[in-house]
Amino acid sequence: MSVRVGICGLGTVGGGTVNVLRRNADLCAARAGTDIQIVQIGARSVNPDCDSDKIPVVADVFAVATNPDVDIVVELIGGSTVARELVLAAIASGKHVVTANKALIAEHGNEIFAAAREQGVTVAFEAAVAGGIPIIKALRDGLSANRIEWVAGIINGTGNFILTEMRDKGRDFADVLAEAQALGYAEADPTFDVEGIDAAHKLVILAALAFGMPLRFDAVYTEGISEIAPEDVVYAEELGYRIKHLGIARQREQGVELRVHPTLVPEECLIAQVNGVMNAVMVKGDAVGPTLYYGAGAGAEPTASAVVADIIEIARASVAQSPSSLVPASPLGVAVDALRDPGVLAIADTVSAHYLRVSALDKPGVLSQLATIMSARGISIEALIQKEPRPGEDRVPLIMLTNETLESNLRAALTEIEALESVVGSVVHIRKDGLDGQT
Ligand SMILES: NC(=O)c1ccc[n+]([C@@H]2O[C@H](COP(=O)([O-])OP(=O)(O)OC[C@H]3O[C@@H](n4cnc5c(N)ncnc54)[C@H](OP(=O)(O)O)[C@@H]3O)[C@@H](O)[C@H]2O)c1
Repeated sequence: MSVRVGICGLGTVGGGTVNVLRRNADLCAARAGTDIQIVQIGARSVNPDCDSDKIPVVADVFAVATNPDVDIVVELIGGSTVARELVLAAIASGKHVVTANKALIAEHGNEIFAAAREQGVTVAFEAAVAGGIPIIKALRDGLSANRIEWVAGIINGTGNFILTEMRDKGRDFADVLAEAQALGYAEADPTFDVEGIDAAHKLVILAALAFGMPLRFDAVYTEGISEIAPEDVVYAEELGYRIKHLGIARQREQGVELRVHPTLVPEECLIAQVNGVMNAVMVKGDAVGPTLYYGAGAGAEPTASAVVADIIEIARASVAQSPSSLVPASPLGVAVDALRDPGVLAIADTVSAHYLRVSALDKPGVLSQLATIMSARGISIEALIQKEPRPGEDRVPLIMLTNETLESNLRAALTEIEALESVVGSVVHIRKDGLDGQT
């Protein structure tokens, strides 16, 4: 007996998946306890980088999803409209599903997992978060004894590449973005990557696993990196920090914080040293303490590594003595009907420390005005840099790090500061996270 796989979509990840499954067929069979055969591919065009020789190809991906000879449908077409219909059709036909599609899982996962549970099939999505890093299995299985306190990750390689280049070479955002597009790291429309939407998709999946909650893409606070100025990268460095685009999910007493934004991280923290297109996720569990997972977050074979691992897991379970042990029909680690929504906090109700850059007129008393406004709200200034005005200029940058405070409190202070006659324009404001002092 062999387990029969149908691949839908033969682009970057589809091609990599076919290549890895074929190249490592013996190994995959030994680990699954059964042969794994690709019996059909759904693709509109051939992929010259893929060894799909002798595998039947059909243009209609729905023919794969409903093919009676297919046991596992692998959805690698991307997007969240046709992909949703395709996955629901596969589930309705009694197939297990493997997908790398974070948008699909983040936006439609609740519906898809409920349908899978009805049908008694599995939906596996290891490749949907941080590509080749097995963070889904780490959270669902390896850390299942822990109460998770927080998860913080660099989960978009494009954004990390841009911030790394800005820091290493003093370049500005637009310049590095153009290079990232030329290198193929960034799409022609980079919005999903640089404005944090892609990271938000991944963060809600991580939070669902970490906290046993439904997928709440509607509730994530998202802020991109397009407004990061080279001077803030330099000042952060002077203060001992690096700016990283983090997805942070943190359990608080009042609910869960779900936020994606640029963040100052202490430079000695391991995650601050994750550079280029690489990804990393930190997870703090009450028993295990802090843990760190690092690796390639994208690319044909790194992503295929995760896709094929899911195929092997399903194949192994389906030949095991008790196929009903295959109950990642609770793909989020707990049964779908046992998920509990702790409530997601509005950004105004979250707690962070902050980096502020104020452009102020170069005259006496400004600093004490700022200090008065901050201290009236219980915000203390933990570090301060005051620069000389540039030749011919009458304004100076004042850079401050604050202690932790409620975001609404900080915003109220910023409104007062921006109204001062001695302050020019808006205050630049970036959150800071010490990750509980964990390195
Ligand atoms: N690339 C990565 O490194 C990476 C990493 C992690 C996760 N992922 C996820 O993996 C999925 C696939 O990404 P990818 O980078 O492999 O995308 P891709 O290179 O654009 O490949 C998608 C393939 O699906 C085909 N396709 C789309 N709609 C189709 C339809 N209705 N019928 C038949 N074929 C269809 C496309 O064919 P046409 O060319 O004819 O349109 C294309 O060959 C996405 O969900 C993505 O988010 C990707």
